Amino acid sequence: MYKLSLLPLLWAWLTYAQSSDECNVTTQYLSDPPYDNYFYSDCHVDAQVVVTSPLPDSNLSIIGPRVIVAWPAGNSGLAAFFQPQDGPNGTLRIELVNSTVGNPLAVYRDGNSDNNYPYVGVQGVLLFNASATLTVPILGSVRTIRDFTEGPSLLQQVIQDAINVTQYNETGASLSRLWLDNTTITNFNMVPFENENGAIQLDPEGRTISFDSGYYHFQAYFNYPQLQQLTPQDVLGEYSQDLIDQQPSQTTSLSFLSYSEKLLAGAWRFLTYFGRDSMISALLLEPVLSTGNGSAMEAVIGAVLERVNRTDGSVCHEETLGDYATYLNMQNNITGEDATAAIFTYPMIDTDFYLPILMDVYFTKYPERIEPMLSREAGSIDTANENMTYADLALSNAQKIVNHTAPFVDNQTIENLLHLKEGEVVGQWRDSTYGLGNGRIPFDVNCALAPAALRAVSHLAALGGVYPNTTSRTSVLTNYSGWSSLGLEFAVTWEEKALPFFELNLTGSDASSRVNNFIQMSTFYDGPSNNESFSTYANSPDDTISLYAIALNGSESVANDTEARSAPIPILHTDTGFHLFLLNLTNTSSAEYAETYTRFLNSTAHSILREFPSGLLTPSGLVVANPALSGSEVLIANFTNSAYHGTVIWSWQLALMAEGLHRQLAFCNASLDITAPHCVDEYVYNTTRAAYNVLWDNIEQNEAQLQSEVWSWRYDSSGGNNGTSRDGFTTTPLGELPPPPGVSGSTESNVRQLWSLTFLAVTRDEDYA
Ligand SMILES: *[C@@H]1O[C@H](CO)[C@@H](O)[C@H](O)[C@H]1NC(C)=O
Ligand SMILES: *[C@@H]1O[C@H](CO)[C@@H](O)[C@H](O)[C@H]1NC(C)=O
Ligand SMILES: *[C@@H]1O[C@H](CO)[C@@H](O)[C@H](O)[C@H]1NC(C)=O
Ligand SMILES: *[C@@H]1O[C@H](CO)[C@@H](O)[C@H](O)[C@H]1NC(C)=O
Ligand SMILES: *[C@@H]1O[C@H](CO)[C@@H](O)[C@H](O)[C@H]1NC(C)=O
Ligand SMILES: *[C@@H]1O[C@H](CO)[C@@H](O)[C@H](O)[C@H]1NC(C)=O
Ligand SMILES: *[C@@H]1O[C@H](CO)[C@@H](O)[C@H](O)[C@H]1NC(C)=O
Ligand SMILES: *[C@@H]1O[C@H](CO)[C@@H](O)[C@H](O)[C@H]1NC(C)=O
Ligand SMILES: *[C@@H]1O[C@H](CO)[C@@H](O)[C@H](O)[C@H]1NC(C)=O
Ligand SMILES: *[C@@H]1O[C@H](CO)[C@@H](O)[C@H](O)[C@H]1NC(C)=O
Ligand SMILES: *[C@@H]1O[C@H](CO)[C@@H](O)[C@H](O)[C@H]1NC(C)=O
Ligand SMILES: *[C@@H]1O[C@H](CO)[C@@H](O)[C@H](O)[C@H]1NC(C)=O
Repeated sequence: MYKLSLLPLLWAWLTYAQSSDECNVTTQYLSDPPYDNYFYSDCHVDAQVVVTSPLPDSNLSIIGPRVIVAWPAGNSGLAAFFQPQDGPNGTLRIELVNSTVGNPLAVYRDGNSDNNYPYVGVQGVLLFNASATLTVPILGSVRTIRDFTEGPSLLQQVIQDAINVTQYNETGASLSRLWLDNTTITNFNMVPFENENGAIQLDPEGRTISFDSGYYHFQAYFNYPQLQQLTPQDVLGEYSQDLIDQQPSQTTSLSFLSYSEKLLAGAWRFLTYFGRDSMISALLLEPVLSTGNGSAMEAVIGAVLERVNRTDGSVCHEETLGDYATYLNMQNNITGEDATAAIFTYPMIDTDFYLPILMDVYFTKYPERIEPMLSREAGSIDTANENMTYADLALSNAQKIVNHTAPFVDNQTIENLLHLKEGEVVGQWRDSTYGLGNGRIPFDVNCALAPAALRAVSHLAALGGVYPNTTSRTSVLTNYSGWSSLGLEFAVTWEEKALPFFELNLTGSDASSRVNNFIQMSTFYDGPSNNESFSTYANSPDDTISLYAIALNGSESVANDTEARSAPIPILHTDTGFHLFLLNLTNTSSAEYAETYTRFLNSTAHSILREFPSGLLTPSGLVVANPALSGSEVLIANFTNSAYHGTVIWSWQLALMAEGLHRQLAFCNASLDITAPHCVDEYVYNTTRAAYNVLWDNIEQNEAQLQSEVWSWRYDSSGGNNGTSRDGFTTTPLGELPPPPGVSGSTESNVRQLWSLTFLAVTRDEDYA
């Protein structure tokens, strides 16, 4: 092993020696007022620079002048917050300009580092329109920056105190900080650039720096191991290379978020592994992603398997790396070799289920990849998994799923549904404090993910080579050869018996009065109720409005009160899309379930066809949650247009819903002898088809936002239709709105999010026009 490694080293040295013009540079500029985003990648470094200047109508308590540099390597970065020196807030603007230094960015490299890694980073020229003061610098981890921007302005003394403010290059200033690992250093230099009068004053004590107006050359860099980016050619499959020319912006972003070891969730706030994000993205992008050794699909599956908790089979939600990992280890009194170790967390309950679903999609198409992938040794990233193979980790995950879903198969009670983990207030994708309205039994996990994962385990067991092929009479958990039938049997019970727990029926007049009540109470919407749609889109023949709770109460505090424990959280939502995307009726479905299913599909289509607040549709997109039908003051107060999982729009949820509806329609067209009720019932089929087209019209209308993480809207009844406003709705960045009550900071959206690039694969099918 050791001798062999000399060869690649030598090769690396040779290519390095002649690399200067082979080191391709990729840059991208994305404007997202008040944020300007600049991406830079070459063979040395990958970086994103975000320059923020308040707009004339910005809320100045939220948006201030700021420069952020973020690096995927170690989820690292730096932030510099500025204030106008003389003028009032709102008057200082910062710009990154083209110059002889870069257009606008260039690589920064310096081999004189004290550890094994050269200093790498980016440089360019910043322009201040007025004199400015750098009031708060943060150097190290993106997580530390997020604690400041998203938490209540949290700063850790042990991190801030290590920042040195020194004079640099005679006329300039330098901020530098040694990380808690005692070896990595982040630097940020600013020097007047072609700026005769430009002057800098340092206050090392207060860690502030003052600048005259004008141009400044900045350099931002650190000495840390870098990741290997996948080029657009590497990320996309053989038959999807055309997308590089057709969708250059999206494929450049996809490449920026794709590395040989893992795909990253979003830029700039989530430049790291997130299990759920990467697997949902892979499921939706699968038709266009590369496959095989070194591919994007295997980067995703491999990253997930590498990080599985070997003890209980849980899939990792998030990893903490770099300086923030050392910081957290220090808080936990972890010293010695483990002091800088990465941290892997497992707070979620949904993430486990995506793994077999994704493995099933991939291995069914590429069975020849089972052996090479699953025989890989784990432990290179998550050292706790040393001496395990990916096959061992896949098995422990499947065992967990079988184990956790078994009680409900035996007895379909509320307590046997899947609950959030004890002590956690979140557990699936709506992972903000009020994402599920305090419910603890989420819809997506129970009604869609668990049955779909069980079907996947069943397929994988039948495929061979994934799980061991041994029979045990003592336990279903080790009777692997029995999983093919067991998984199916479990899946059918979950499919048929979980959904009814979540179904809620309202009369049309109840629904209308609740919506009117919402408009009375709402602090952000005073437009029309659109409640005439309740009579257009109701279940026939009884005119009821069905909705499916976003979650059930499930609280331990009411454990002995079955009714209270089963109470539905009556939020209208888009998680129904998981069901449409992952499940279908089969020819073994019971007649009763076929009816339940048809009602569900119909109700989901109606929720898309009805306009907000009676349904989910706004001119800015489908909102992911709507409290208007809840009749609950508390839910209405919390599910607002500024809540992270409130009446806001998430791009990937639009893609999931669109593809889910498409799968339902395609299922009916797949074969002429389909007798599934939703295919035979012309009304339901046509409603589904209408919802598909209304949704796609809406998606096309919102093309400008589709690649960002999440966005919101403002309503102004006098707004009407003009350049930026439609029917009174104006699309607005979420970070521009003040936070909802009880939430400390407003949430800034990422300009690019991995799962918001899924429209590369999810496209409108004109066959259903
Ligand atoms: C640089 O880009 C050119 C043109 O796209 C490509 O042919 C070449 O392989 C790239 N080089 C590297 C090292 O990626
Ligand atoms: C200006 O903004 C800064 C940073 O947001 C804030 O601390 C300060 O209080 C503001 N000043 C005024 C006068 O509003
Ligand atoms: C800066 O340079 C880049 C690359 O040449 C170019 O695309 C961009 O338009 C320039 N920006 C300005 C403001 O001139
Ligand atoms: C530092 O000063 C030298 C000499 O004046 C100049 O050439 C160089 O560009 C300066 N460095 C920076 C980062 O401005
Ligand atoms: C910061 O200054 C202290 C005290 O002079 C010094 O020991 C330390 O090495 C400096 N850190 C960096 C990153 O330069
Ligand atoms: C870094 O150095 C400090 C002071 O010597 C020491 O207390 C700390 O344990 C070191 N941290 C690591 C991660 O080695
Ligand atoms: C892995 O799972 C075991 C059993 O649930 C738990 O005790 C352990 O803390 C988990 N490991 C990590 C790193 O969370
Ligand atoms: C770490 O050690 C300190 C001092 O001994 C102690 O107060 C603290 O509770 C410990 N923290 C943890 C998480 O064990
Ligand atoms: C892996 O095996 C080696 C050799 O038996 C042992 O020293 C090491 O502790 C094991 N690692 C883990 C994480 O169990
Ligand atoms: C199955 O789940 C039970 C209850 O959660 C747990 O105690 C047991 O250890 C699990 N068994 C396996 C093999 O995971
Ligand atoms: C199912 O659970 C309920 C409630 O805990 C209990 O009353 C009932 O006896 C159980 N049924 C079976 C078949 O175990
Ligand atoms: C499991 O082993 C049996 C007996 O050797 C064989 O018939 C069957 O095909 C195997 N199943 C799979 C999925 O490999």
